[in-house]
Amino acid sequence: MENQTIVGQQTKVNTQIFDAPEEGARYVAAKIAAFINKRNSEGLPTVLGLATGNTPIPLYMELVRLHKEEGLSFKKVISFNLDEYYPISPDDVNSYHYFMFKHLFSHIDIDRANVHIPVGTLAEHMINEYCEGYERMIREAGGIDIQILGIGRAGHIGFNEPGSQLNDITRLVTLNPLTISDAAGDFGGAEFVPRKALTMGVRTIMEARKVFLLGWGEKKAEILAKAIEGQVGIEVPASFLQKHKDTEFILDKGAASKLACCKY
Ligand code: F6R
Repeated sequence: MENQTIVGQQTKVNTQIFDAPEEGARYVAAKIAAFINKRNSEGLPTVLGLATGNTPIPLYMELVRLHKEEGLSFKKVISFNLDEYYPISPDDVNSYHYFMFKHLFSHIDIDRANVHIPVGTLAEHMINEYCEGYERMIREAGGIDIQILGIGRAGHIGFNEPGSQLNDITRLVTLNPLTISDAAGDFGGAEFVPRKALTMGVRTIMEARKVFLLGWGEKKAEILAKAIEGQVGIEVPASFLQKHKDTEFILDKGAASKLACCKY
């Protein structure tokens, strides 16, 4: 596996560039598997923060393969998903509940009781308390060991859209118009995309001990260049990761094509 590690001239962000998404996914899956295996051998749980969307699909395929072919056990894994549309039923094919079981949880030996995904069916008056409870559950699990992220074209991580603050925790947010238009295809039209979502906050993500942000393809290149090499700030919430102590950006060549520090 050929990959190139770049520590940007403008930033200290660790960026790994691969020929293809599957290679980047294998790299991340191997790191996750090594961590889980070590924890399993010590009798300790592993806490994973998980993302949905197209980006992590090759990663989940590789984790499923490692489970089926190489005996990687998720019995002691505790998972917290980043976000869920609001409102949405967990049975909706566009819900992140549906996604996670389709692509990962149905194929591995994770204990259903250890799976946490924000609920998209709460009455509005219950949401604040629910979000505080989500944060508490993460803390009580020991905090997130490894957080997986994608990036939205508006610069979101989770559903922390532009304007999100470093100090934000899990909460109800309004989706950015670009996020809604990017989701329109899945929902059969922009008018059917939920306007809101529950999401872990930037702070929740920043508290993870290790973060992998995955990005594939040229359509992510512009926002990734801003996130990795641009100014840190609320215009591009992913840029806050420049301040995180152990984040790796995992890109393919297309996604890396607008970085100033490396030209293909
Ligand atoms: C999904 C999530 C989002 C996505 C982002 C990229 O749980 O938190 O931030 O990672 O919108 O989506 P894709 O991967 O579909 O391009």
